[in-house]
Amino acid sequence: MNNKILDGKKLADELNLKLQKKIKKAVEKTRVRPKLATILIGEDPASKVYVNIKQRTSSQIGIETILIKLDKNISKENLIKKIKQLNEDNTIHAILLQSPLPKELINETPAFLAQISPDKDADGLTPLNRGKLFDYNEELAPCTPKGIITLLEYYNIELKSKDVVIINRSNLVGKPLIFLLLKRNATVSICHTSTKNIDRYIKDADILIVAVRKPNFITKEMIKEGVVIIDVGINRLEGKLCGDVDFEGVIDKCSKITPVPGGIGPLTVSFLFQNTFTAYKKQLNLK
Ligand SMILES: NC(=O)c1ccc[n+]([C@@H]2O[C@H](COP(=O)([O-])OP(=O)(O)OC[C@H]3O[C@@H](n4cnc5c(N)ncnc54)[C@H](OP(=O)(O)O)[C@@H]3O)[C@@H](O)[C@H]2O)c1
Repeated sequence: MNNKILDGKKLADELNLKLQKKIKKAVEKTRVRPKLATILIGEDPASKVYVNIKQRTSSQIGIETILIKLDKNISKENLIKKIKQLNEDNTIHAILLQSPLPKELINETPAFLAQISPDKDADGLTPLNRGKLFDYNEELAPCTPKGIITLLEYYNIELKSKDVVIINRSNLVGKPLIFLLLKRNATVSICHTSTKNIDRYIKDADILIVAVRKPNFITKEMIKEGVVIIDVGINRLEGKLCGDVDFEGVIDKCSKITPVPGGIGPLTVSFLFQNTFTAYKKQLNLK
């Protein structure tokens, strides 16, 4: 079974160690530590957990983080003002607007993201950085898709000419993945709740990427023998973390699979810090 696991935790630890060394070198030269500002609005419990994990890991790597907690009733104007202040603050190198925003603001998310300076865009979600992906420029691309591609490449999983099926069309996962995969010459299909005959797509996939927020959404009967499965989902079932795939059920039939936890999650965090370092280098004109 172990030879089937795509170990995201192991890769993230390796990447974090490399990054820690790069940051140490850069700080020796500049005397400036990379600094990430996270804006957390409201009291979403899952967001609080993610923010805590990120803060813990960042200090190990050598990135300073500040957390800006804002009330869920903050006005649109005041939030934009706060983002602009962070853009203008030279001691802040990267900005993350923690999603999801509270329901009062969620529909305005693109408008808030558009206020973040593209050079400080830790999540790769500003309009400029999203647009750059069209040209296959992934310098500041969203963290989860970057983590997925890096994991597949680390395990030498061929992407060229493969049929990759993504079940998700969100800005954070599915949409950016399209470009990262096309760049590597895969054939990409995107499925969602209005997809007709989704089972047909799933059955044909050489590589299946799932992020639907539903435990056990993918079962053994649905997949092709030898498929590579990337399970992005993070759910809680009977008090335990799990993904969107019936891991125990599919393990004998697939060729490779990411576990949950220990798969894409740690890589998403790692790429947040890679992006923070990229943003820092841009602002300090470092190579
Ligand atoms: N591991 C990580 O680091 C990481 C990072 C980001 C997200 N996640 C996890 O990934 C999951 C998705 O996150 P998200 O922010 O992208 O969520 P989201 O915006 O809710 O997207 C869910 C997607 O799944 C599709 N979907 C849901 N039910 C479906 C069904 N029955 N058949 C076909 N498609 C279906 C939705 O289709 P429609 O568009 O038609 O609604 C949507 O495109 C969550 O569990 C989240 O926690 C994990």
